[in-house]
Amino acid sequence: MTPNQIKLVQTTFAQVVPIAATIADLFYGRLFEIAPHVRPMFPKNPSEQKEQLMAMLRTAVAGLDNLDGLVPAVSALGRRHAGYGLEARHYVLVGSALLWTLEKVLAEAFTSEVKDAWASAYILLWTTVTDAASERPMAA
Ligand code: HEM
Repeated sequence: MTPNQIKLVQTTFAQVVPIAATIADLFYGRLFEIAPHVRPMFPKNPSEQKEQLMAMLRTAVAGLDNLDGLVPAVSALGRRHAGYGLEARHYVLVGSALLWTLEKVLAEAFTSEVKDAWASAYILLWTTVTDAASERPMAA
């Protein structure tokens, strides 16, 4: 990601932090609309799930310009995700629900430049999460 893209993601995220609960509702609503089959994967209490999602997004967005600090947190998340049996198509659906949500809440501020910046940030997260998820435990 370029420094400008990082700045765009961070400034637009700052705009939506005050409406975090709305973001989470829109995101899960959209995800379950485009991918009803993933709903049973999420057994937890939805409000807890929403808080975790927003907490992770906060960490990820803040960490975009400090990848050394971000990678360990996202890698741990990736290892937890390894158990969910995820494929690339799941990540595509989640990414598309995320971009859709941002477009809804940012409206005209969601320019094509902002969209590209968020898409790059998501791909970076996806790569980090899946790299960690595919790590094999040390051979016994
Ligand atoms: C880069 C993309 C993703 C990020 C940043 C992310 C983030 C998170 C976070 C923060 C949690 C909370 C629990 C924890 O920390 O382990 C979580 C749980 C979970 N995620 Fe993801 N996730 C991503 C991709 C996906 C995808 C693609 C799916 C499948 C459609 C998925 C399915 C789940 C499930 C099933 C849980 C557990 C929910 C529960 O225990 O109730 N995640 N994710």
